[in-house]
Amino acid sequence: MNILIIGGGGREHALLWKIAQSPLADKCYAIPGNPGMEALAVCDASISIEDNEALVAYAKEKGIGLVVVGPEVPLTNGVADAFEAAGIPVFGPSKSAAEIEGSKAFSKNLMAKYDIPTAKYAVFTDGEEARTYIRKEGAPIVIKADGLAAGKGVIVAMTEREALDAIGDIMDDKSFGTAGSRVVVEEFMEGEEMSLLAFTDGETIIPMVPSQDHKRALDGDRGPNTGGMGTYAPAPVGTADIVQEAYEKVLRPTVDAMKAEGRPYKGCLYAGLMVTETGVKVVEFNCRFGDPETQVVLPLLDSDLVKIMLACDKGTLSEESVAWKDGAAVCVVMAAGGYPGSYDKGDVITGIEESEHAGCLVFHAGTKAADGSVVTNGGRVLGVVGEAEDIRSAVKKAYDGVEKIHFKDAFYRKDIAHRALNR
Ligand code: AMP
Ligand code: GLY
Repeated sequence: MNILIIGGGGREHALLWKIAQSPLADKCYAIPGNPGMEALAVCDASISIEDNEALVAYAKEKGIGLVVVGPEVPLTNGVADAFEAAGIPVFGPSKSAAEIEGSKAFSKNLMAKYDIPTAKYAVFTDGEEARTYIRKEGAPIVIKADGLAAGKGVIVAMTEREALDAIGDIMDDKSFGTAGSRVVVEEFMEGEEMSLLAFTDGETIIPMVPSQDHKRALDGDRGPNTGGMGTYAPAPVGTADIVQEAYEKVLRPTVDAMKAEGRPYKGCLYAGLMVTETGVKVVEFNCRFGDPETQVVLPLLDSDLVKIMLACDKGTLSEESVAWKDGAAVCVVMAAGGYPGSYDKGDVITGIEESEHAGCLVFHAGTKAADGSVVTNGGRVLGVVGEAEDIRSAVKKAYDGVEKIHFKDAFYRKDIAHRALNR
């Protein structure tokens, strides 16, 4: 069948790379795609990923048998509903189910109602009330813009001053636009983070291998939050017991809750978890695959991704077996100098092929073709993935690949997987 992938980042490149290996996949298409995806798919950047009508028309014209939606924005914009209405199978939740990511207030209220463990919180639309609450609770405390802010709308404030300043930025100065007209203020949770992604058809839930992201920009988990600077899987923090606990206390009740709320959830449910002394707690939910978690999880998947995705859409996931390979994968994100703040675009990238020849997978995240070269076109530029028999060897392989790639002001974290290596 012909398959359409919506999105053009590292996650979508990894999805396409795995999908193209399926015996079920004939021709692949991507909107907008990226230069790395062009080898495997027809990429078309002329259609906006936020134009549901145009996307459906494109899929009809190309005889698409499965649509895979990468980013959250089209999902919260109802793209899955539009494909479903047109009778085209789609992997990804409906608009009402995607609200689990689209509104932090919605997901926190859902967790409170169904006893799903998470940090204590309060929601504010008034800056003065938020400040009064912060003064009462004290620091450390966490401030989150309610709407989508590309992973950057969260301030972990270690002092009361930082927390009050964050309210000023988000609510008074609107630094995240309308995403900040409501804020969630929540208790600081101490522990180790884990990303647990799961396939679900709304009934059956199959967790993927646990992974760990590195959200801060700088080594030693310092600096501002980013969309993610690197990942590895499987994450040792996710022992079989921890994954089982996450299934019973988080994934199972959440999928059941969404059904009970009349928002049945299908697709990939991403649980961002904190493994604390008092058990697993939810940091956030996402309505889609993680980026860059996907880049390390899918290389370890030993089953046919297209078959699994079709089963999620049809409601037949209980009939599928999902198997994982032994070994480990590590992804190092190469970013443009300045990210997550402002950065240059258009710098020539060299060495991608050398890195691939050394056995790495190089997923494009923010690149563009220009005059026969590939140039930088985003904050997160490339994800270089090493796969090997264990984490240590995979780290070495990924960094050997990174050292072969060059562009002006490139920066990357040198300590990806440090928690696994220091255990
Ligand atoms: P989020 O976008 O909600 O995943 O938050 C981004 C990052 O901020 C998370 O990955 C955590 O590292 C951190 N964070 C968010 N909420 C909390 C919390 N309640 N306690 C401690 N750290 C948090
Ligand atoms: N890597 C974090 C995210 O995809 O939200």
